[in-house]
Amino acid sequence: MAGLFDKQAETYLQARPTYPSEWYSMLAARTSHHSLAWDVGTGNGQAALGVAEHYEEVIATDISEAQLSFAMPHPQVRYMHTPQSMSEDEMVALIGGENRVDLITVATAVHWFDLPKFYKLAKRLLCKPGGILAVWAYNDIIVSPEFNSIRKRLREKSLRFWHANIKYAFDGYRNLPFPFESVGLGHEGEPLQLDIPKELLFEGYLKFLKSSSAFASAKEQGVDLLSEEEIKELESSWGGPNKVRTVTYKAFMLAGTVI
Ligand SMILES: C[S@@+](CC[C@H](N)C(=O)[O-])C[C@H]1O[C@@H](n2cnc3c(N)ncnc32)[C@H](O)[C@@H]1O
Repeated sequence: MAGLFDKQAETYLQARPTYPSEWYSMLAARTSHHSLAWDVGTGNGQAALGVAEHYEEVIATDISEAQLSFAMPHPQVRYMHTPQSMSEDEMVALIGGENRVDLITVATAVHWFDLPKFYKLAKRLLCKPGGILAVWAYNDIIVSPEFNSIRKRLREKSLRFWHANIKYAFDGYRNLPFPFESVGLGHEGEPLQLDIPKELLFEGYLKFLKSSSAFASAKEQGVDLLSEEEIKELESSWGGPNKVRTVTYKAFMLAGTVI
């Protein structure tokens, strides 16, 4: 899956939401210490900056150098590239050693990982007791019933361009394996449902659609997933280019400690 997020790295920065500050407060309230956090699959740092409000140091890593090249700087966040070839021991050394990390966050990314491999690494790195792994994602934006039914119809065309692992996100992480002990913020089979409210212009929504890995994969194969007519149809249902809409990203979270 390396490379899925390279092509749209700049659009990604402009199009993707950050997460509500309360999410970081509720996670920070559950870890015993606040020295070191690791944000994995950080992209442009969409979650890393929020985590840095509560932890002295945040190591933010990504498999994509292109995504990291657009990362948002922060004095407490250290961005590092972690190529797929890196061994588990190299990762442990890079992040700071076993039993050292208070909070690991994976925002809208864990469904792309090799899960058994990642969970084994996370268990080595997390402080025991008291360290927490939190994974979350969003799978849809609710605009209005009319808009969403057009969007649903257009979305059908994109299905064959998604990597198979997207099924975890489409299912709201209900089927995501998560072998960690619950801390009251979702558990395996029953993620915590969360909303992310945002104000958006249609242009922002369009950038969001174009920042998906399916859109980039289709483009590579010479397929444009949104024709000019389809964009016009969506824009008119939105209420025009200047209409600011309050939309809701439907999100879900699982958090836990080492069993
Ligand atoms: C959908 S983006 C999410 C970025 C950011 N965390 C956010 O919340 O918007 C997924 C990110 O995971 C990264 N990624 C995918 N597989 C990875 C892996 N095995 N290790 C580290 N990062 C990975 C991608 O390069 C991409 O930047």
